[in-house]
Amino acid sequence: MAERTPDRIAVLPGIGIGLEVTGAMKRLLRQLDIESEDYPFGYDSIVEYGEPLTDEVLAACEASDAVLLGAVGTPPEEVERLSREGSGNEPTAEQGLLRLRRELDCFANLRPMEDYVPPSEDRPAVDLMLVRELLGGVYRGEGHITEDEAVDIVRYERHEVERIATIGFEVARTRAQEKGRPARLVSVDKANIEYISKFWRTIVTRIAEQYPDVECTHMFVDNAAMQIAARPWEFDVILTENAKGDILSDESAGRVHGSLGLAPSISLTARDAEGVPTGPDIAESVHGAGFDIAGEGKANPLATYYSVELMLRYTLKRPDDADNLRAAIDDVLHAQYRTPDMVTMGREGAFRIVSTNGMADLVSDRFADRLAARRPATSAD
Ligand code: IPM
Ligand code: MN
Repeated sequence: MAERTPDRIAVLPGIGIGLEVTGAMKRLLRQLDIESEDYPFGYDSIVEYGEPLTDEVLAACEASDAVLLGAVGTPPEEVERLSREGSGNEPTAEQGLLRLRRELDCFANLRPMEDYVPPSEDRPAVDLMLVRELLGGVYRGEGHITEDEAVDIVRYERHEVERIATIGFEVARTRAQEKGRPARLVSVDKANIEYISKFWRTIVTRIAEQYPDVECTHMFVDNAAMQIAARPWEFDVILTENAKGDILSDESAGRVHGSLGLAPSISLTARDAEGVPTGPDIAESVHGAGFDIAGEGKANPLATYYSVELMLRYTLKRPDDADNLRAAIDDVLHAQYRTPDMVTMGREGAFRIVSTNGMADLVSDRFADRLAARRPATSAD
């Protein structure tokens, strides 16, 4: 059998809990035979090199099979100082992530929200996928700030809406096939106000005609925010533009998980005719730097694990490893292990509370068990 060259990923730990959650992944990456290297990114890179993403680090990312991001953020004291003394034109850590997404052309951000553990309230199961356009809109960074005014230009081009809408409908169709249920997609906009939303709705409606098997409805973003808060289980695929997706993904994660500690994502670049990625995707959990808990071993590494699961599935095309990783995490959660963010006050007694590294070790142990159990079958193939 031909030896597969090991996958190689660039890891951008970033700042705050990003260091802890990516550090906790190293054993799993070795178990998966994935080579990884850490690179400076974000705030530390600004301090050291004057910019959040250097050309060297970008080149290393471009040369990798995928990128794994820890967390992006600016220390609160620095944010405070800049709000007093800054002009608004200083480089920011966030710009590093926006540039990385743009240079890698990662335009489609998939953010699944599902019940990884039984919900503490009595409600139907949630299993939704938020498909967020990741390069356009206000994130394009066109605009300016002076002492007297600030302007953001919110711009979408036709091809950008077409390609994200196509991903949305493909995801809806695939999920329906896999889950054996009708395909549904809700496109979220503000078409009663914004030009970009009127434009969005027209294009989504046109693409929908190519997917008669997918029920497509449109919803204004204010109403969508309310419906997600009230009945998140009613949604399957939510398709929306960049800024709305940013907000709705935190909202749905908070509603479904009670924290951002379980919210993974994968940012996809274009695929060729065979469905093979044309460059590296970015596995990026939804949470930020968590400065309030950084360095205390309290961060939940599971959003990063689930992001790696998405990377195995969508980018590296290793579905068996993805399934095994998911099953390993399920085992650990079934055994009632939790990081502190997963436990509501007063229910601590029902669970075994573990640290970031404690959780990581448990997942790696279970993963090793699964690999060992699989090995005899593989050699008999
Ligand atoms: C996210 C984050 C980023 C975003 C920031 C860190 C640039 O909030 O991934 O949701 O706004 O896209
Ligand atoms: Mn966000």
